[in-house]
Parts: sequence; C-alpha cells; structure tokens
Amino acid sequence: MSKLVIIGAGTMGHGIAQVAAMAGFATTLTDGVAEALPAALERIQRNLHGGVTRGKFTADYAEAAMGRLRVESEMESAVEGADLVIEAIVEDLPVKQELFSTLDSMTGANAILATNTSSLSVAAIAGATSRPDRVLGMHFFNPVHIMKLVELVRHDETADAVTDRVRDVAVRMGKEPIVVRDSPGFASSRLGVVLGLEAMRMVEQRVASAEDIDKALELGYGHPMGPLRVSDLVGLDVRLAIAEYLYKELGDPHYEPPALLRNKVAAGELGKKTGKGFYKWPKTK
Ligand SMILES: NC(=O)c1ccc[n+]([C@@H]2O[C@H](COP(=O)([O-])OP(=O)(O)OC[C@H]3O[C@@H](n4cnc5c(N)ncnc54)[C@H](O)[C@@H]3O)[C@@H](O)[C@H]2O)c1
Repeated sequence: MSKLVIIGAGTMGHGIAQVAAMAGFATTLTDGVAEALPAALERIQRNLHGGVTRGKFTADYAEAAMGRLRVESEMESAVEGADLVIEAIVEDLPVKQELFSTLDSMTGANAILATNTSSLSVAAIAGATSRPDRVLGMHFFNPVHIMKLVELVRHDETADAVTDRVRDVAVRMGKEPIVVRDSPGFASSRLGVVLGLEAMRMVEQRVASAEDIDKALELGYGHPMGPLRVSDLVGLDVRLAIAEYLYKELGDPHYEPPALLRNKVAAGELGKKTGKGFYKWPKTK
C-alpha cells in the first residue's frame, strides 16, 4: 500500500489527504471542481502550520508531508497506480455509484475502493463495480486531522484481507478503527443524527437556546461538544441529506428532518462552512 488517492477536496477530503500524507503515503487529491484544489491545499497548509505552532510536530515533518501531497484536476491521471482510493464527494447515492463505476474502469484490478459515506449503503455503492469484494466504507470524522475514529464498514462481500489492509492504513494514520456491518447510518451517524435532530426540534419548540441545549449534553453528560455545534461543523446540508436517507431507510420518525433544518439549508445557512448555522462562525475559505 503506497499510493492513496482522495476524491473530493471539501470538508472531509482535504483532511483525509492531510492525514494520508502525514502517514507517509504518496497522496493525490482530486475534485470535480478544479478550483476546490488550491483552496484545499491552503487549508492543509494552515492545519499543518497550526500543528507546528502548537508543538505537535516539527516544520520539517510538515514540509515532508506537503512534499508527499499532489493535487490533480484530471481524475484519470489522479487515480493512475492507486492502491487505495478514498471517495469523499457529495452524499448522493446515484452520484457515488456513477463515480465508483468510473473508478472501476480507471483503476488497476487490485486497487481497493473506499467510500467516506456517512450513511449510504456500501453494498449499493460496491454494486456499481465489478469488484465488490474490494469495496468498503472508510468513514472519517470531522475535523479529520483531530478526530481519532474511523468506522470501517463491511458489506456482505467485502473480503477479510481488504478490511485488514484498510485497518492497517487507518492505524498508520493514527486513527482508532472500529468495524461495523453495512446498515443505514452505521454506528456513529445512526446515533449522532438522532441526537442532532432532536436538539433541533427542541430549538423549534423553544425548550432552550442552542447554546444551552448543547451545554446540557456537554456539562450534564460529558459530551465534548453539543449536538448543534457538531451539526454546524458537519454542515447542515450534509446532515439533512443523511437524515432524509435514514428516514427513508429506517422509517423511524426520529429521523424525519425538522422544518428548522430544511429552512436553514434553503437559506444557505449551512453551518461553519458558510459562517452561519445554529451558531455564527468566522468565515473560512
Ligand atoms: N462533513 C462531515 O462532517 C462529514 C463527516 C463524515 C463523512 N462525511 C461524508 O463525506 C462526504 C463528503 O462530505 P463533505 O462534507 O466533505 O462535502 P463537501 O461538500 O465539503 O465536499 C465535497 C467535494 O466533492 C466534490 N464533488 C462532488 N461531486 C463530485 C464528483 N462527482 N466527482 C468529483 N468531485 C465531486 C465537490 O466539488 C466538493 O469539493 C459525504 O459523503 C459526507 O456524507 C462528511
């Protein structure tokens, strides 16, 4: 396992590319929108600079990581020679299936194809390829360079050896992998989304302010961050897409997206990435 390719240079993709390069892999980052690539590089550089400033690692280490990272706007050139491709594009099943079908034809037969989906069926994504045994979920958390968890999502056909190899990659990235059976929302989103949506319903019903609802879980239950702040970090559009999917798949009213979430997304209040969600955030690129 030497060359990793990350597809999608947004909130998650730039972070996955960063930890891959830091772990010593030759890393290529690509995106359907070429302009996303310089912005992602800038974010990675900023994160690494922050790590150096806080004494987490040396400037030489950060420079070496940047040296292993390449951005490439042409998908076919990007995936050439890839051992592991990690997809982090929009949370939309047909779009992911189309990408996996393309990747199947563009990558070598031994390449492993992983999806960072938060909730979608890994089996349905794998079904778009001729190598479902070499497809699995590799679900990172936001911000990727800080959060330790990686959920490895196996569907019925994922080969044991493939799970083992990807577990090794996650460990090399400094992550703690858990293995979860392919089921809607896996372990993390199924639990996290229900808390986030209920907190939004509580804001709608004026039970308390967003800050106080978050504090209830932070100070009362020891959660490091309340569910509304987490939703802002994840992106309210991403949360909405996941909630809609889980509601459809599980048929449980707990997953029905509240009007407040729909309204915020329609108004372009997507959380940290747009500067406003349940909280106000400093503008980032
Ligand atoms: N945001 C989170 O906290 C979080 C956490 C875990 C998992 N995820 C999952 O990770 C994935 C990406 O989420 P994100 O928040 O990084 O999204 P994002 O909107 O920040 O970034 C997605 C990127 O993918 C690119 N893209 C979209 N369609 C493409 C295509 N067909 N080909 C190539 N590039 C394409 C976009 O241009 C964009 O740069 C989703 O599946 C999401 O559910 C998100």
